[in-house]
Amino acid sequence: MSGRLKNKVAIVTGGASGLGRQSAIRMVEEGALVCVTDINKEHGEGTAAMLGERGFFMAHDVSDEAAWKHVIDTVLRRFGKLNVLVNCAGVGLENDSIADCDDQVWNAVMDVNLHGTFLGCRLAVEPIRRAGGGSIINLSSVLGLRGGSDTLAYCASKGAVRLLTKSVAVHCATKKTNVRCNSIHPGYMLTNMVRDYAEYFSQDEALALTALHPIGRMGDSDDIAHMVVYLASDESTFVTGAEMVVDGGYTAG
Ligand SMILES: NC(=O)c1ccc[n+]([C@@H]2O[C@H](COP(=O)([O-])OP(=O)(O)OC[C@H]3O[C@@H](n4cnc5c(N)ncnc54)[C@H](O)[C@@H]3O)[C@@H](O)[C@H]2O)c1
Repeated sequence: MSGRLKNKVAIVTGGASGLGRQSAIRMVEEGALVCVTDINKEHGEGTAAMLGERGFFMAHDVSDEAAWKHVIDTVLRRFGKLNVLVNCAGVGLENDSIADCDDQVWNAVMDVNLHGTFLGCRLAVEPIRRAGGGSIINLSSVLGLRGGSDTLAYCASKGAVRLLTKSVAVHCATKKTNVRCNSIHPGYMLTNMVRDYAEYFSQDEALALTALHPIGRMGDSDDIAHMVVYLASDESTFVTGAEMVVDGGYTAG
């Protein structure tokens, strides 16, 4: 541990698996105190066990405003402040093209990816400001930068997260709150989300996901966790409203 996040208190949503879990692990290694939240209690408790005494888990549906208030109140009571929010909870669903996306799929994706991120930003800005400032980190996607044939609602939600992030950043900077807000845009990372996606599509299509990345591999959870640590730390105090693309060159060509 080199202490890059010493004295920082963080909430990481979607921390039961994948990018959220690995981000929480790296943040604790760098000295942060972390509240991990998720709708998946069993795996969320599993993450908390990996974090040891510097972390704990709360069941939390990010689309539920009352649940958000409960999480933030609990963190403030337990740790006395909040410095960092990582909005990592997200879903991608089947039947998500313009030909087959119905209201149910659209609303389910928007509720978690966009509304959940909006609620987190809205409710975290003030406590982070009171703590003297800090960082909100929103997980968007390369699919928030370009469209996808079978990822209509997902792309719409992640594209909206990109501009939600910039709007939060500009407001907070202008109002001198010392609250920064940035989005991360991963390429395809080897987590549960992509494994599910790969099951839905054929093996050849799954292999084709790898070929999308000029660097020659899909991403690893640590590729994102390291970016989260940077954005959470004071090394990035001049970085706000930025879209941090971590995609092995996927969108560069
Ligand atoms: N894996 C990738 O390739 C990839 C690429 C680009 C962006 N992302 C984004 O990164 C984030 C993390 O993805 P991941 O790959 O770790 O996926 P994951 O499926 O491993 O983790 C997502 C977590 O979100 C939780 N979640 C779902 N709905 C929730 C809700 N309503 N409230 C609280 N938690 C909820 C799930 O239980 C799960 O633990 C997501 O926002 C995703 O869209 C992932």
